[in-house]
Amino acid sequence: MTDTTAPTAVLRAHAEEAYAAELAALAAADERPRPPRWRLSPWAVTTYLLGGTLDDGTEITPKYLGSRRLMEVAVASLATDRALLLLGIPGTAKTWVSEHLAAAISGSSTLVVQGTAGTPEEAMRYGWNYARLLSEGPSRAALVPSPVMRAMELGSLVRIEELTRIPADVQDSLITILSEKHLPIPELDDEVQALQGFNVIATANNRDKGVNDLSSALKRRFNTLVLPLPDTLAQEVEIVRTRVAALGRSLELPADLASLAQIERVVTVFRELRSGVTADQRTTIKSPSATLSTAEAISVMTNGVALAAHFGDGVVRADDVAAGLVGAVVKDPVQDRIVWQEYLETVVKDRAEWTDLYRACRELG
Ligand SMILES: Nc1ncnc2c1ncn2[C@@H]1O[C@H](COP(=O)(O)OP(=O)(O)OP(=O)(O)O)[C@@H](O)[C@H]1O
Ligand SMILES: [Mg+2]
Repeated sequence: MTDTTAPTAVLRAHAEEAYAAELAALAAADERPRPPRWRLSPWAVTTYLLGGTLDDGTEITPKYLGSRRLMEVAVASLATDRALLLLGIPGTAKTWVSEHLAAAISGSSTLVVQGTAGTPEEAMRYGWNYARLLSEGPSRAALVPSPVMRAMELGSLVRIEELTRIPADVQDSLITILSEKHLPIPELDDEVQALQGFNVIATANNRDKGVNDLSSALKRRFNTLVLPLPDTLAQEVEIVRTRVAALGRSLELPADLASLAQIERVVTVFRELRSGVTADQRTTIKSPSATLSTAEAISVMTNGVALAAHFGDGVVRADDVAAGLVGAVVKDPVQDRIVWQEYLETVVKDRAEWTDLYRACRELG
């Protein structure tokens, strides 16, 4: 049994901690040139993301499953003076990729600004420790640096999550930082100059588009990369399988309960409903309002594993995934329910090897 009172038993370790051994092995094997203050060369960063075997036999597990070129473009643009914007629908691994990029390049993924409608300018620039400000007056010691300012001082990457949710005037404070690479502090008649190695990785979600669109001035300072949904069923099944196994391990659920067949079914349902046509291209179906991302397929399966482990016989069965599946599809209780019922009766019912799933979904009403 793991000692759950140990200080190391965190629910989710940062990427640089969880993969410390891989990062160290890559750094040792990496003889290619590294951009200033990068822990690894661009080649090693890409290997860290996509996986591979090093000359000394060390296995690097793949973090991102998908196009190699896409990751090369992401890494290369971080080595330039332009920032990187990862764009895509929810659940396409934008946050996941940005965390791993920061861990591999700067050795830390913890400098992060979480973008919300209420993100203040202090989160991009700096704030003040008011007790000190009142007692000592303005000084560097009374200043509270933002993650962006700390990254400039350290010459490291900073992540900005959900950039388009941030109010436009706060977003604009990034323009000077990205174009001039310094941050003025008028109160102290001073400034912070970014060290080499400083850069920004932002994420934004297609579905939020229009909430606070990026100004064209800001857009010009980013290389935008769209992370797509997985191309093929096999690729998506592999993503779900590896993530469910890893999550199961960290939650101490018995290993590999989720059979490949169950994962394949869930992913097939997701892909068919998403694309509006059955896998054999024969029947068109309606799509629900939900995004049905890979990330949601991962949670449906993880919930199924938890149900099977705690309340079942340890094998994930149709009724362990059915509730999660219906919950993921039916987000709008009226419209989506109609779409789901139709899919159930016209597609699921007719598949001989899916009768258990059909019955389990029917039982949920
Ligand atoms: N191509 C992929 N390769 C590896 N993992 C993936 C892939 N696509 C999705 N995932 C998994 O999906 C999960 C969710 O990803 P993440 O939270 O990064 O999504 P996101 O794009 O940031 O979504 P949101 O827009 O909702 O913030 C992660 O656990 C990640 O491992
Ligand atoms: Mg995200």
